[in-house]
Order: sequence, then structure tokens, then C-alpha cells
Amino acid sequence: ELMVDMSETIAPIQPTMYGIFFEDINFAADGGLYAEMIKNRSFEFTISMMGWSQPNSDRHSYNNESGFAMPVKYFEGEGNLNFIRVQVKNAEGYELHNEGFRGMGIKEGDTYRFTFNAKQMEGTVSEVNAFLLDEDGNTIAEVSVPVSGSEWKNYKVEMVPNKTVMKGSLKLTFEGTGELGLDMVSLFPTDTWNGRENGLRKDLVQLLYDLDPGFLRFPGGCIVEGRTLARRYQWKKTVGPVEERPSLVNRWNTEFDHRLTPDYYQSFGLGFFEYFQLSEDLGAEPLPILSCGIACQFNTGELVPMDELEPYVQDALDLIEFANGSTDTPWGKVRADMGHPEPFNMKYIGVGNEQWGPEYIERYKVFNEAISSKYPNIIIVSGSGPFPDGDYFEYGMKELKEIGAEIIDEHYYRSPEWFKENATRYDSYDRNGPKIFAGEYAAQSVAIASPDNKNNWDTALAEAAFMTGLERNAEIVQLTSYAPLMAHAEGWQWTPDMIWFNNLESYGTPNYQVQKLYSTNKGTDLIAVTQDGKNLVGQDGLYASATLDSEAGEVVVKVVNTSSDVQEISLNFKGKKLKGKGKVLVLKEENLSQENSFESQDEISPITEEIKVRGSSAMYEVAPYSLNVIRIPIH
Ligand code: AHR
Repeated sequence: ELMVDMSETIAPIQPTMYGIFFEDINFAADGGLYAEMIKNRSFEFTISMMGWSQPNSDRHSYNNESGFAMPVKYFEGEGNLNFIRVQVKNAEGYELHNEGFRGMGIKEGDTYRFTFNAKQMEGTVSEVNAFLLDEDGNTIAEVSVPVSGSEWKNYKVEMVPNKTVMKGSLKLTFEGTGELGLDMVSLFPTDTWNGRENGLRKDLVQLLYDLDPGFLRFPGGCIVEGRTLARRYQWKKTVGPVEERPSLVNRWNTEFDHRLTPDYYQSFGLGFFEYFQLSEDLGAEPLPILSCGIACQFNTGELVPMDELEPYVQDALDLIEFANGSTDTPWGKVRADMGHPEPFNMKYIGVGNEQWGPEYIERYKVFNEAISSKYPNIIIVSGSGPFPDGDYFEYGMKELKEIGAEIIDEHYYRSPEWFKENATRYDSYDRNGPKIFAGEYAAQSVAIASPDNKNNWDTALAEAAFMTGLERNAEIVQLTSYAPLMAHAEGWQWTPDMIWFNNLESYGTPNYQVQKLYSTNKGTDLIAVTQDGKNLVGQDGLYASATLDSEAGEVVVKVVNTSSDVQEISLNFKGKKLKGKGKVLVLKEENLSQENSFESQDEISPITEEIKVRGSSAMYEVAPYSLNVIRIPIH
């Protein structure tokens, strides 16, 4: 018998309660969400011709018959450093190919925008012919583009393929002979999210949109920190004209070697402006995280000396100006020049990702002081490191509390059992202490980041049970997010992941379905649901939390059954009158190893049932291994 007490509310459920953690890991940005189809479009990867091939040319002997393309440096420094000089000796024979990101997903009848910069350097190369090819090298779209002049010019054409292919590619051939400079060779579907030119993959954004996320945290994760400080994420290098943004070796380049990914770079085509824009599109609060002057402590842990921390702090202050400042300010103007004169109304900023120890606290204090004195309304998110218990964690929490930290980010990648046992984790947290951002969590079916981890129902159900504990503690737990978010089926470094995609398709895992049910049924105010006066935190394998949804005029009760038994419960509602019937959104599966897949994307997805209410009570049969979201209208 469960008592749902609607006579008083305990705390508001923050609109930010369930959000998204985005990191460019597993090809989530370039090759994923960012819809660019050409790998190394600007020839900036360290091995400058990575992604490109010249099948009829001998790479090792310059003396080839048809022609040859070589990278050329414009200048040393940062930004767009390289272009290629294409020498065409025999137009009949010379071809330049791009392989895309594990091929190019191309859809029949869709329109693709092919653009490039070119200049004639010598001779009379007068046309660039572009072909989209299927897996067998057959042409599925083609276009010829006349080029002229010795100055750089931008060329733009559209192509409509006549076949759908998962692993297509691009072939270029040339008319005439001589030397042509080529740069920023780009191919985008025109059908991106909101039709933007430098846009995002529509199916992937749709999955995010359907989560109705309260916030978007970006750009990571470890990539914020970098393996070395020189390779940390620097937001200023990711804004402004796309072609001027420098590339960077991704911190996840070959790291775990589950799939070799030596071609993992960040083009920053998806940069901070685009992240803010995405937040806006999703109706989510932007939550950027910046380097605090410590490189990834799992790698070098390189520290910036305290007396050299100033530029890092300035980056944080300038970011606030970029996001919120008037168009008269230098960084507000950069935002306006990019097409967004209105401020993004950023409220949160994160300092450091997974840092720990006195080195972090020392640096955090400097950021805290600088940000809160200039921007007292900005909420600073601090980190507690990657260990959810133990000495480092205790130390960090104690210190941060003393400083008066507002929100602390906790991360946990643990077994399904840990998640079930920790549904009470926040019950004992100080109600007057810092708020909590459960910023990265996921149940690991084998071991942390093991390549054999699965996104199966066992892990998703354990997370569902744990999440009743997040919700029950909404007084202090105010932001939460699963991690990592996305993975390319052929280019991942980390499992499990919430969304899987290939070049054409994407699907939500059972873990995604759990997140979605919580997020879209969060309600507005926490209320108590108890059994014999106690929270339901695993008795007979049952877990529960409850909220009122004042917008919908409904009471929402979430019940998770982690046992193999059907459990008959009676719900007794106190304090308000209910209408005669409601609905239950149910995720259930008796095979705990069950997963969703490209072939069977909705294997585990919610079904809707009806629930009858008599007076102030209702009987409900809770299926084995199930998450049940019961929604009943209030009179
Ligand atoms: O989510 C994968 C990684 O896990 C993140 O980059 C890091 O913050 C954590 O260690």
C-alpha cells in the first residue's frame, strides 16, 4: 500500500532537472551531430591528406602521369593553415576522393550542397567535376562547376542523388591541365535541423528535442580539459567564420583503441555559437564548462601555474560577455556578427570537468572570485571529480561547501547493483548545502568504459530505480544527465551510450527511453510517496517517487519494479480529489539483456495503459522489471 500525499509539496522540481550532457566523444560532433560529410574538408588534420585519396596517383613518386595533390601552407600560426595544390597533368586520369566519416550516408532524392574554395594557380584547370559514389564506385549524382581566376573564390552547387547509400563517397575530377588551389571542400545535406547551412543532423537533434531537456551541457567531458593544456578546448577558437576555426586532435583520438580512431579531430564547425543556438532550439538552459587550468588528470594532469591562470579566467568572463553581453561589447559583437544580436541568457557556467585535489580547489577559488564579483547572477558549477565516494570526493565536497559553492557536479559510472543500492544517496545530503548536478552517470553492465558494456534493460532499469532517488531529493538535486550521449556504431571509444547512430539512422537505447519518460513527466512539485511511512527504496525490489504537475493538473507517480515478480500495489491519494481514470506509461521487459538496435529500434519503448481510480485509491499491477509512470488528472 502506497500513500501519495498531495496535501503538501516538498520542493519545486527545477525545469533543469533532466538535461543533456554533450561531448564530442564517439564521433558525436564531426561525423555525427554536425552534418558535414567531408572528413578533413580544410586539410588541417596533422596528416593533411587524411580522409583523401588519389587512386590513380602514386603517393611516393612525384613523377606520376595523371596528376597529384599536395598540401600547401598559407602561413604558420592558427586558423586555416593549409590548402591543397592540385596538379592536373592528364585530366582523363586524375581523381581525388574523400571517404567521409566511415563513408557518407546519402539519401535518394535529398538535396546536398557542395561548396569549395578554389583559385587557378597555373595553367587552365577550368572545371571541377563532383560525383557522389555508391559503395561500388557507381555515380549516384554528379555536377560540373566552372572555375576561373587566380583569386580565391567560393563555389556552391546542389546535387540530388538517385540512390540511398550508407557508405558513399565523393570523387572529384578536373578539366584542363595545370594547378588549382582547393580549400574548404564541403558537403552538407540541405535538410539539416532548422535548415541551417552550417547545420546539424536532423534525426539526431530530433532525438534530443524529444527528450525535452532542461539544459544542454557542452562541450564535454574530458575534451574540455585536454590531455595537455595546449590541447584543451578553447571556446574562442570555435566561434566566428567557420573556415577560420583551427582544428584540434580530439582527446579521444585512439585513446581506448576499441576501434582505432586515428582520424578523430575537432573541426569546431560545431562550436560554441552552435551549442548556444542548439540550447535555444531545444528550449534548454545552456551550460558551458571551461578548462580550469588543469589538463585531464587521467593523462598528464598538467597544471597552469597560479600566476599564469589569468587568461583562463578571462576566457570565462569573456564567455559570459559573448553569451549575454550587449552588442556594444567586443564579445557581444562577435555573437551579433554571427547572427544572434539577442543575448543567449546564459545562467550557468562550469569551471573544470573532472578535477580533484587541492590543485583544483586553489584554481576554482580564483574563478569563483572573478566571476561572482563581475557577474553575481551567474551560477557557477564546480566539480567533485570522477570518484563518487572516497577521499578525493570527501575532500572536494568539504572544501567546496566551505567556499559556498552553489552547485557541485558529481559523476558515477558504476554497476547496475550500485545504482539500485544508491537510490538513497542524496537522502542524507545537507538541505542547506550546495545543490547537486548529477552530471554524468550510466550503469555499466561489465565494467567502467569496458568495450563489452551493453545498453541493455538491466542497466536502464537500475538507472530508473536510482532516478526515483534523484527526484525524491529534488530539493538539492537540480540538474541530472546521462553520459555519454551519442556514439557512432563504427567509431566509438566508450560504451554504454544513450543514442547510437550510423551514417543514415539513429535510435534511442532503453536508457534513452528511461531518460525520456522521466524528463517528459517530471511534474512541477515534489510530493511524498511512502509505504508504512517510509520511502520506497528497494523494499521487495520496488522504488517510487511522486510529483504534482500543476501545468497539466495531474499527479504523477513513478514506480520501478526491479524484481521478477508481478506486484499488486494499492495507491492511496491524500489531499486532493482525483478524476476517475488516468494513464500509465510503461517500460517493461522480462529479458534483462534485451537491447534496442538499428533493426529493432523500439524493442523497448513505452506502451500506454489505463488506470482506474475509485474515490481516492487505485489498484495497479506492476509488471516484473518495469518502470511505470502513472498520471492521474486532479479535479
Ligand atoms: O563520458 C565519458 C567521460 O567520462 C567524460 O569525458 C569524462 O568526464 C568522464 O570521465
